[in-house]
Amino acid sequence: MSELVSLTKQDGIGIITINNPPVNALSPGVPEGIAAALEEIENDESLTGGIIIGGGQTFIAGADIKEFGKITSGENKRGVAFLPLLKRIEDSPKPLVAAIHGTAFGGGLEVAMAFHYRVIAPTAQVGQPEVNLGIIPGAAGTQRLPRLAGVEKAVEMCAFGAPIKAGDALKYGIVDRVIEGDLLAGAIAFLQEKIASNEPPRRTCDLTDKLGDEATNAPIFAAAKKQAAKVRRGQPAALAAIDAVEAATKLSFEEGVKREQELFLECLYSTASKALIHAFFGERAVAKIPDIPKATPVYEIKKAAVIGAGTMGGGIAMNYANAGIPVLLKEASQELLDKGLAVIRKNYQNSVNKGRFPQEVMDKRMALITPTLTYDGFAEADIVTEAVFEGMALKKQVFGELDKVCKATCILASNTSTLDIDEIAAATTRPEMVIGHHYFSPANVMRLLEIVRGKATRKEVIATSLAIAKKLKKVGVVVGNCRGFVGNRMLHPYGREAIFLVEEGARPQDVDGALYEFGLAMGYLSMSDLAGIDVGWRVRQEAKHLEKPGIRQPLIGDKLYEMGRYGQKTGAGFYDYDEKRNRIPNPEIEALIKETASEAGIAQRDISKDEIIERTMYALINEGAKILEEGIALRAVDIDIIYLNGYGYPSWRGGPMFYADTVGLKKVYERICEFQAQHGELWEPAPLLKRLAEEGKTFADFDKGGLTVTA
Ligand code: 3HC
Ligand code: NAI
Repeated sequence: MSELVSLTKQDGIGIITINNPPVNALSPGVPEGIAAALEEIENDESLTGGIIIGGGQTFIAGADIKEFGKITSGENKRGVAFLPLLKRIEDSPKPLVAAIHGTAFGGGLEVAMAFHYRVIAPTAQVGQPEVNLGIIPGAAGTQRLPRLAGVEKAVEMCAFGAPIKAGDALKYGIVDRVIEGDLLAGAIAFLQEKIASNEPPRRTCDLTDKLGDEATNAPIFAAAKKQAAKVRRGQPAALAAIDAVEAATKLSFEEGVKREQELFLECLYSTASKALIHAFFGERAVAKIPDIPKATPVYEIKKAAVIGAGTMGGGIAMNYANAGIPVLLKEASQELLDKGLAVIRKNYQNSVNKGRFPQEVMDKRMALITPTLTYDGFAEADIVTEAVFEGMALKKQVFGELDKVCKATCILASNTSTLDIDEIAAATTRPEMVIGHHYFSPANVMRLLEIVRGKATRKEVIATSLAIAKKLKKVGVVVGNCRGFVGNRMLHPYGREAIFLVEEGARPQDVDGALYEFGLAMGYLSMSDLAGIDVGWRVRQEAKHLEKPGIRQPLIGDKLYEMGRYGQKTGAGFYDYDEKRNRIPNPEIEALIKETASEAGIAQRDISKDEIIERTMYALINEGAKILEEGIALRAVDIDIIYLNGYGYPSWRGGPMFYADTVGLKKVYERICEFQAQHGELWEPAPLLKRLAEEGKTFADFDKGGLTVTA
């Protein structure tokens, strides 16, 4: 046995316990330990059967994801070698039971399915989430799961990755019994029943009654493929998972396993898988801030308050209510307060109508939101989030008022999307308690929370903000203070190029089409129509003083604003919209763009899809590199996590900085130099990008600290 796996003997039963915290992943040593324990159970005549159980919080949460990078880089030549072990388990002459608590995910569920029987704690979950990492189950999950759960459920679980709860696992035949109370005792009792019955151990690979036939299966596969094309756009793993389950229905178990292996390896070596694994670890890395140790004390958040019940404030209040935290919601007038509350109620009602949660949950959440026109009750709030209009004078006024009414330990957060957090903090006598909490619209849906630390912000306030993000089920990324912070600052040059491209001859639908094909949820111009052309106009007005004379500015946004084409809200922007909000290209707007461009002396030409992607993506990357060098983002992966969770960047591209690494920084840098020669100083390459490109390095090297420091 190894330290990672122990075997104890009780009442004639061998109990294999996995001890590989935190999640009992199948790291090197674990499969070997299980094999050794199994051998001892088989050889020890005093033992009549065996149980596998996880030590600590969980059963096995899957293969060790860190190992995949070692396999694809060639560092680990052994590959994923679970299959022979699972075959040995299944072929064991003594009955074996898997006892599941916590999560049996991926390889964990695959191990459990090789056992003859499975019992489960009521709170446990099982799943094949490999597709979220760009791979498919690689240890016969796609072959054993349909034999237990049927083809439809297996396709759903393997191709879309969502876990299921213990009750459903029982219902679908994935487990044999739910154990209330002590799991091990229940597993022992279950095994003893099986031993007493003298039935031969049941091998999952022998089951065929749920595999269906061509006629019943064909529509299941067709529907799943259609769904995968929609919700897993650009991700071949979902289709591969469907193919692998299909193989289970058409080939022998052994042949099906072989087919699964081929598909698994194809996916494992894909860039999409590397990108998704980067995102998995990135999401966990962003919570680690070098100067904020894990032990940093956090403030307890029992009561919250939000100022402004508009687009953002309403969503932020919902976040707190969803987390069970009472929240005061303050507005400037009764009419606006009623309007804000009506939107919240409508959002919740939509969720109830769609069956996401029952009416009682909605009622409970609504009851947690207390509308108000005064500061009454603010003295008890542990955090206040301001979401009033984007104007420095107003923000300062509000923070000055908060300073007077809030207790000394209350966190004062601003949801500003661009403004200087230090200047806002200076309006209070406690800048150390002030921080930016930048949510993304719709605030109750989007997962990103940019946490903007000011010069004076206390570490405890930052640590509490990260804890709040977790509590609100968001991904909190700590960033520095500058105009637009990380996400919106990068969006600025990206959007600028998208508009320049239409002014140079591409049609709006060409630009948006290329970006959509690249994988973005929507192109920049469609996004502007959604966010509001008037919003962009207002931001430009606030920043007029920052514009350098003689530097090209996008022209068309102002033109649309002057025409009252504010985007979807007015039924027209870059595009027209029908009553279902379908986008309709408008030739008159295309002509207007051409006319505006020619008046400004901008030559028209054919623009390729490649140029659209390079101009927009490299603008994003170049600004990202500047942000990194300035320390506004801690790591390149922080930028990626921001873009993946706040801006609809395709997860299978790993984020803009990861994408840059896959293109090669030398190529990106050289192209930026060409753009600089053609378009001037807006394209000045970031010094960090230049340095990395010249040293043949990547942003991943930067994150590992593998940079040569130059004077
Ligand atoms: N391999 C390696 N490390 C893992 C891991 C895994 N499978 N699962 C989690 N971890 C690490 C995390 O990176 C984190 O490390 P850190 O503390 O250094 O940041 C730590 O374990 C704790 O993880 P979380 O912060 O995510 O803890 P939670 O309690 O919030 O969630 C969990 C636990 C639900 C198990 C979640 O971690 C999870 O979903 N993990 C991934 C599960 C998965 O995808 N399994 C399939 C793997 S692929 C596979 O099995 C292939 C097979 O078919 C051959
Ligand atoms: P909004 O116009 O929808 O809502 C602002 C609300 O604040 C209005 O209802 C207004 O009546 C209220 N308000 C103004 N002064 C007030 C006061 N003194 N007391 C109480 N309420 C007051 O604006 P939106 O879009 O919600 O923006 C709010 C903030 O969030 C801005 O700073 C904006 O930059 C930021 N933001 C906006 C995003 C978006 O997509 N709309 C995304 C991220 C941040």
